[in-house]
Amino acid sequence: MKKNDFNLVKQHLGGVSRRDFLKFCTLMAAGMGLPLGAGAQIAEAVTNPRRPSVIWLSAQECTGCTESLLRSTHPTLEHLILDLISLDYHETLSTPAGHMAEDARLKAMNDNKGKFILVVDGSIPTKDGGVYCMIGGKPVIDILKETAPMAGAIVAIGSCASWGGIPAADPNPTGATPVHEILKGTPVVNIPGCPASPYNFLSTVLYYLTFKKLPELDDQGRPKFAYGRLIHENCERRPHFDAGRFAVEFGDDNHRKGYCLYKLGCKGPETYNNCPSILYGDVGAGSWPVGTGHPCFGCSEKGVGFTETLHSLAKLKNLTPSTFFTEAYPGTPGIASKTKVLAAGTAGVVIGAAGAAMLMGMGKKDEQKEDKEE
Ligand code: SF4
Ligand code: SF4
Ligand code: F3S
Repeated sequence: MKKNDFNLVKQHLGGVSRRDFLKFCTLMAAGMGLPLGAGAQIAEAVTNPRRPSVIWLSAQECTGCTESLLRSTHPTLEHLILDLISLDYHETLSTPAGHMAEDARLKAMNDNKGKFILVVDGSIPTKDGGVYCMIGGKPVIDILKETAPMAGAIVAIGSCASWGGIPAADPNPTGATPVHEILKGTPVVNIPGCPASPYNFLSTVLYYLTFKKLPELDDQGRPKFAYGRLIHENCERRPHFDAGRFAVEFGDDNHRKGYCLYKLGCKGPETYNNCPSILYGDVGAGSWPVGTGHPCFGCSEKGVGFTETLHSLAKLKNLTPSTFFTEAYPGTPGIASKTKVLAAGTAGVVIGAAGAAMLMGMGKKDEQKEDKEE
């Protein structure tokens, strides 16, 4: 990126230094697992004087996903979102209201046909002709069906838009439906989370702007760079899990010592997200639920968060010991630590919670046996 181009960015970013901006782009590239040099490509793409148009539709949602984006403590996130893209329609953030807002959406659609990014926040009510979410006198389902075919890319942000979320909770009175089910046959990127991590959203948008295609997705439409690993695989409390050291009640001695939160209902072992690696709501700073002492409740996982499973024990899908953390017992690195746990009575390669369950007198043996067999 040339210095002159950066002056444009600087006007937008309100004083962020060139160095910090390039550092930010490099971090974003690294977070997506892109090769060296991709940071410069991203920087180049977002300094294009013609800002890409974004239309943001809000359906049955709580505005938490928008708030999370705006309340990020890293200033470049909000500046990038509000200044480097052209946010042409957003019900919470747009200046125009009523007919003027609707006109802005139609104008952005027609002026940027096949190029704009459509972001959908919230689930889509389908019962009774969709009357449970009306915008400008129209059911949101009709607006979505009218806008989506003209978009270059469609992003469903948050667990409501990705899976149905809270509005779809039993008995689902409005027939709340995820965006991809309404737009069957059209590629939709899901960025689940309640709220979704702004970093995962922003990375997806930057990837699309830079490479003019969507990032690689998993079988549930989630970008693999963000949702490729279980939280449990990279959690900083994992050595405690492997060693059988658990908090049993909020505020107990083990909780204060920072032990594993599995027995408090942590859903990290069955939730795919990058929260432990990139933390939450910021790049390279801040914290995340487990880091603050609260169990992960699986907010980004389909059918895990907001259900009766909130306080139940997570299914252990991946009992392979972490290779990242080597010291399960202080002074006893790697395999030696595993041997100790095995010596304490744990069978086979299951050195994590199964061993811990025996050590701590925890039940659920049948469930874990099932998981081992999976
Ligand atoms: Fe709100 Fe959560 Fe739905 Fe986002 S996913 S709109 S934060 S309820
Ligand atoms: Fe971390 Fe939760 Fe796994 Fe414990 S159960 S290691 S707190 S993700
Ligand atoms: Fe959500 Fe769990 Fe991450 S609750 S923010 S997926 S740690």
